[in-house]
Amino acid sequence: MGDNMSLNEKVIKLLIEEAIKARDMAYAPYSKYLVGAALIVPSGNIYTGCNVENASYGLTNCAERTAIFKAVSEGQRHVDAMAIVGGPIEEISDYAYPCGACRQVLSEFLPESGDIRIFVAKSPEDYKEYKLSELIPNLFFITK
Ligand code: THU
Repeated sequence: MGDNMSLNEKVIKLLIEEAIKARDMAYAPYSKYLVGAALIVPSGNIYTGCNVENASYGLTNCAERTAIFKAVSEGQRHVDAMAIVGGPIEEISDYAYPCGACRQVLSEFLPESGDIRIFVAKSPEDYKEYKLSELIPNLFFITK
């Protein structure tokens, strides 16, 4: 799975299914908007995350960053692709786009191909694909 353009349809659907399962874990008693994310790294490992809200609302962590922090804290440094699902409790009604903060955090972990594939999904059959570079052009970075 070294080249992120090689992810086939089966893997994309699996990633979306994992995001849907992760969404069931969302802790969102305040917004009641549940988000799930699943990312795949070059080895083929998948890491998932959900949003985790707090009574002090600003402390909320998005599903995407939960998944990224799980992967990075387990030694991963590159993300090939991420699937995201979201919507109110009853249904995944929206294409849930990653917020600006999550886009910036994700940009730190580009794979060798130089870009990350993002799938915003309503179901494994109904999704839209973007490149991270389309969603966040002109990245902030620090020259080493
Ligand atoms: N949320 C995410 O998990 N990911 C995003 O990219 C945007 C928003 C969460 C945060 C909050 O718990 C809920 O959705 C409503 O904003």
